[in-house]
Amino acid sequence: MLKIGLIGCGFMGDMHANCYKNIKGVNLTAVADLCREKAEKAASGTGAVIYGDGKELIANADVDVIDICLPTFLHTEYAIAAMEKVKYLFIEKPVALTSEEGDSLIKKANETGCNIQIGQVIRFWDEYTVLRDIVKSGKYGKVVNANFRRISPRPDWGWESWLTDARRSGGAAQDLHIHDTDYVLSVFGQPKDFYSVKNAVGETNSYINTLMQYEDFVVTVEGTWDLPFTHPFEASFRVVFEKATVENGANGFMLYTDSSAEKIEIEKKELIGTVSGGNISDLGGYYNELAYFCDRAEKNLPIDRATLEEGVASLKFVKKELSFNA
Ligand SMILES: NC(=O)c1ccc[n+]([C@@H]2O[C@H](COP(=O)([O-])OP(=O)(O)OC[C@H]3O[C@@H](n4cnc5c(N)ncnc54)[C@H](O)[C@@H]3O)[C@@H](O)[C@H]2O)c1
Repeated sequence: MLKIGLIGCGFMGDMHANCYKNIKGVNLTAVADLCREKAEKAASGTGAVIYGDGKELIANADVDVIDICLPTFLHTEYAIAAMEKVKYLFIEKPVALTSEEGDSLIKKANETGCNIQIGQVIRFWDEYTVLRDIVKSGKYGKVVNANFRRISPRPDWGWESWLTDARRSGGAAQDLHIHDTDYVLSVFGQPKDFYSVKNAVGETNSYINTLMQYEDFVVTVEGTWDLPFTHPFEASFRVVFEKATVENGANGFMLYTDSSAEKIEIEKKELIGTVSGGNISDLGGYYNELAYFCDRAEKNLPIDRATLEEGVASLKFVKKELSFNA
């Protein structure tokens, strides 16, 4: 039984707790949150020992792996401490607040030999993994152009309003848009050139649109979290190939050719746990990424998807987008 220690039981920590409750062969053994109520909710049904500050868990809990779901500005401090204790560590995305922090995490991981996965969950999201396979297969020819979009109401749930303070979260670009940046880099590699525009409201950058120029195709990536609370969250894409267009949007996950419009079916998993609030209705990619993480830890194998190095590279690319023409 793999023993999990979860630090931070807010929106994402609770989501992770639900995933662990659904993964066979793992036990949520310890949880930590400054808010006792949130920790109790995450621990419910597991018998997990409850701690307050994450450092108490790191110092005292009997766990094999640690999962950090703290606000981004706390990732580095807690991850460095956790690397002294466990050989497998999961850190939510974005990996850190600054590129320098990202580099310090890589240095510490090299010193300790800790295996680290970053919560770049889109790499594990079913529609996006199917799309990646289609791109790699070349079955519809080359990519001609692509668009990825992630738009959200204002994220008002953060502990002490950390999310809407770009000094602690990095703003919409670093917190939200990084999902698509990371995915595009993982599928298409580094672009040969890019152009980026953004705007800022108060302390937070709230809108970003980046055009990535590849050798023979272009990708645009748009993100914002400045929509009214009544606006639905949307994560969508359209990839135009020479012989077909694959789209995930208002009509569902679709394959269009000149002669047909077909739904691409995704097999849904049976889930036992309940899903907490927020803008995500399904454990989907969260379950997939954590099931992969636990499997690697149980088998004592290296992490080779959503690695620390990849998470830091994506963070650095977003930083370049943010400083483009600034
Ligand atoms: N992968 C995704 O799709 C996704 C979605 C949302 C958030 N996230 C990421 O997850 C991380 C957490 O975000 P969130 O939305 O859950 O934030 P949140 O504010 O809902 O939760 C953070 C929790 O940390 C707790 N906390 C703060 N300091 C602590 C400490 N020292 N010790 C123990 N607990 C402490 C708070 O009480 C709070 O419950 C962030 O890095 C965020 O970017 C990822």
